[in-house]
Amino acid sequence: MAVVPYKDQNDDKKSQVATMFNNIAGKYDFLNHFLSAGIDIIWRKKAVSLLAPEKPKYVLDIATGTADFAIETLRLNPDKIVGVDISEGMLAVGREKLAKKGLTNKIELKYGDSENLPFEDNTFDAITVAFGVRNFENLKKGLSEMNRVLKPGGTAVVLEFSKPRSFPMKQLYQFYFKNILPVVGKIVSKDNAAYTYLPESVQAFPDGKDFISIFEEVGFKNTKWHSLTFGISSIYTGKK
Ligand SMILES: C[S@@+](CC[C@H](N)C(=O)[O-])C[C@H]1O[C@@H](n2cnc3c(N)ncnc32)[C@H](O)[C@@H]1O
Repeated sequence: MAVVPYKDQNDDKKSQVATMFNNIAGKYDFLNHFLSAGIDIIWRKKAVSLLAPEKPKYVLDIATGTADFAIETLRLNPDKIVGVDISEGMLAVGREKLAKKGLTNKIELKYGDSENLPFEDNTFDAITVAFGVRNFENLKKGLSEMNRVLKPGGTAVVLEFSKPRSFPMKQLYQFYFKNILPVVGKIVSKDNAAYTYLPESVQAFPDGKDFISIFEEVGFKNTKWHSLTFGISSIYTGKK
């Protein structure tokens, strides 16, 4: 059974995830930085720095949301970044942010489903996804699509929550994720389910070596796993 945000509804995971992000879009950036004490910003910087040696010119940011990862990737001076997402609410917040920063010529945001990407084979020099793959309805399909639209020799970078495994971080993290984060998330976002879905989806998600196995199964090579902040998050990289 897939972990979904709204367990009392019959919609598929993809529709529920899109609805959830539409509901919380206005509060998403604030909650992200507040609930992670700003560490999410450091994680995105680290993920982008892993891509620096590749000097990618054309980049796809999947599950781009409000475009924070795409904006961070501008540090690599690409010609163009395209961000895709299934939540129009998140994209609207992202577009407003890009307009304010004068970045609309460099970053284009459009509706796009990771499991059926609207691009030709071998299009992008690099592909990034931050906190997106856990939300895919069909993880293998989403990762295969990433591989399909990546140019041969191109690199994919995936940043995602993982599960810390050693004492005392494991216990502290579980307490925070199960007891504090859902309460604060619910009060601020006004969505009853989003911040309960977050720890549940992290718990069910294949992290570490399990993720690497699936990543390789769909065709990525030279895969690497970097554990961040006691294993709370991980970066996975792979080449086509
Ligand atoms: C936690 S947000 C991450 C946003 C952004 N990447 C960041 O680092 O803040 C997850 C995003 O994934 C998007 N998403 C989930 N499933 C998707 C899919 N199948 N295709 C494209 N986007 C998807 C959601 O709509 C949401 O905006």
